[in-house]
Amino acid sequence: GMRERREKLLELNKQAARTFHKWLYAPEGAEGLAYLQKRGLSRSTLTNFGLGFAPNSWDALIQALADQGYDKRDLLDAGLAVNNKDGRIYDRFRNRVMFPIIDVRGNVIGFGGRVMDDSTPKYLNSPDTPVYNKSRNVFALNIAKTSKAGRVILTEGYMDTISLHQAGFDCAVASLGTSLTSEHAQLLARYFQEAIISYDGDGAGVAAAQRAIPLLEKAGLKVKVLRMQGAKDPDEFIKRFGREAFAKLLERSENQVDYRLAQIQKKYDLTDDGQKVAFLQEAAQLIASLSSAVEREIYGGHAAQTAGITPEAMAQEIKRAFSARL
Ligand code: GTP
Ligand code: MN
Ligand code: MN
Ligand code: MN
Ligand code: MN
Repeated sequence: GMRERREKLLELNKQAARTFHKWLYAPEGAEGLAYLQKRGLSRSTLTNFGLGFAPNSWDALIQALADQGYDKRDLLDAGLAVNNKDGRIYDRFRNRVMFPIIDVRGNVIGFGGRVMDDSTPKYLNSPDTPVYNKSRNVFALNIAKTSKAGRVILTEGYMDTISLHQAGFDCAVASLGTSLTSEHAQLLARYFQEAIISYDGDGAGVAAAQRAIPLLEKAGLKVKVLRMQGAKDPDEFIKRFGREAFAKLLERSENQVDYRLAQIQKKYDLTDDGQKVAFLQEAAQLIASLSSAVEREIYGGHAAQTAGITPEAMAQEIKRAFSARL
């Protein structure tokens, strides 16, 4: 039945993860091990995350698992093998360092594999399978769920999350790509009260953060956004500036209203009176959308201070925007 099928695929994934991990330390994995070491990962990090290597071969995994009694259909169903047009099957993951994706129960549900050079695709992920649904799982939640931090640091990528853990931030997870779903948000809300979005600083990351904010809030999480300068993502930031500097960024991470005000501010030159008015009007619309009067007062004050006007004048503008909404 369905249940047995799932059990079988999970068992197969576990064996695959063990095999990839073993290969990382075998002669054929030397390049993978060197790559991960060059990226600064320690031995214990490699072990904690069960990182591995898929050799440059069309059927290394198929053969290894056939020896353990798994047939080709199982590998196809688990997304570990792919059929070509002639009906021949080959390993999906070849010549890549491997990141197992583990659910909160400790099951290996899928994999990501990264190339070791600039070729594309940079990452290859498991397809959705009977045991893996990418819109319902986040990377490293199995570890982060036991964190005492009480909040979750949400990153885009495997390497961001792993680097953060290695630097002692054990509450990091990755949504693996840029689109967080409401299911991801609800899953996180089961374990945490607060989420700090720590996406890449590029345009895609900023846009993804904007989309994630309402989903996380709707799931009941308090949301903050971390803003990084001088590095393109958390992994690079930690390598360049160290864990203390990242801890400071976390402390300074802004609640989402201030973050959105800052995003609006970027569009205007506040030394120009006309643009200043436009900034305040757009800010007033954002603030008028907040449901709490206390919040409207506080963030109205922030916007007023940014533009150098009185809080009273800003309150007037917010009131106007508020009644325009009704
Ligand atoms: P590194 O270059 O190893 O530091 O990766 P990164 O995490 O910084 O990469 P990037 O910011 O480009 O992407 C963030 C995340 O999106 C990755 O960790 C992957 O989960 C996913 N991703 C990136 N590139 C690809 C791709 O080519 N295909 C797929 N399916 N996912 C990708
Ligand atoms: Mn990319
Ligand atoms: Mn990115
Ligand atoms: Mn990166
Ligand atoms: Mn990145």
